[in-house]
Amino acid sequence: MTERKRILSGMRPTGRLHLGNLHGALDNWIELQRQYDCFFFVADWHALTTDYATPGEIKNNTWEMILDWLSAGLDPEYCTLFIQSDIKEHAELYLLLGMITPLPWLERNPTYKDQQQQLDTKDLSTYGFLGYPVLQAADIIIYKAHGVPVGRDQLPHVELTREIARRFNFMYDREVFPIPDPLLTEVPVLPGIDGRKMSKSYGNAIFITEAEDSVREKISMMLTDFHRVRRSDPGDPELSTVFAYHKLYSSPSEVVEIAEGCRSAQMGCVECKQRLAKNMLEKLRPLREKRLQLEQDMDLVREIITAGNAKARGEATRTINEVRATVGVSAWQ
Ligand code: TRP
Repeated sequence: MTERKRILSGMRPTGRLHLGNLHGALDNWIELQRQYDCFFFVADWHALTTDYATPGEIKNNTWEMILDWLSAGLDPEYCTLFIQSDIKEHAELYLLLGMITPLPWLERNPTYKDQQQQLDTKDLSTYGFLGYPVLQAADIIIYKAHGVPVGRDQLPHVELTREIARRFNFMYDREVFPIPDPLLTEVPVLPGIDGRKMSKSYGNAIFITEAEDSVREKISMMLTDFHRVRRSDPGDPELSTVFAYHKLYSSPSEVVEIAEGCRSAQMGCVECKQRLAKNMLEKLRPLREKRLQLEQDMDLVREIITAGNAKARGEATRTINEVRATVGVSAWQ
């Protein structure tokens, strides 16, 4: 049997996941887990690069996110799930990569300046934040990953990882690290209930294991075609957030029916929303049930992560030993 290619990806611990996370990344991970040797981890040190002043939520968010991963269908039989800060070898490789990474590569990283501007309530002129992509490079190459499934926003980080890996191999004249490929997950941005991009911080998100009543209420607040003032006015479904969701959660024939009902004013927004709620809740029911079950069995969840950590640590240790020998810095070897 040929070895399966290795895939690695991580998410910062943001707590409970929303539908944007599910359709943007998690569904893709679940798809990949049977085909590849997958490693997925919680990037809690990365969370600390921006939230170092208020780290209180990180621990809780880590377990919340892991519960949602398992509820959505990441399966520890198929993939290795672990927590970054439990694998100290990432930190050692990060330090060694820091030695060979030219400062201008980091200073011209587009997400560096971008994020500094966007998160302007936080002081991000720190060494740790500048080094964010070096830590990410260490995460990836310590597992000798071949592919890294990411969204478009992370492409500069994977590109930097490739450059750092190449530079290491070249500098020490040894092909220690394979050069990883980004696996771009193209997903249209999912609108939140207010029509803007779905984001926890905008308060417009629907969570993947949210209670039924709460989902119904959020759907009832969703924006529709705002030109359609009266029930008897014809509407344009393409202007409606509700319709964008029907495309994800309703059958193709129902989508056609809804579009026609909207255009001809035969169907009102209330009915359209009720139908969406029914279809969405039906699809999310297994996730919600799995989550309730897992919450009753946190020992099992901890065991899954303990086992994943052990496997990840084994791989990371193997690489870091090779790296130490290659750099030749350990006086005892
Ligand atoms: N920076 C990534 C994000 O914000 C998270 C991340 C950390 C990651 N390390 C990684 C993703 C390694 C892929 C591979 O989404």
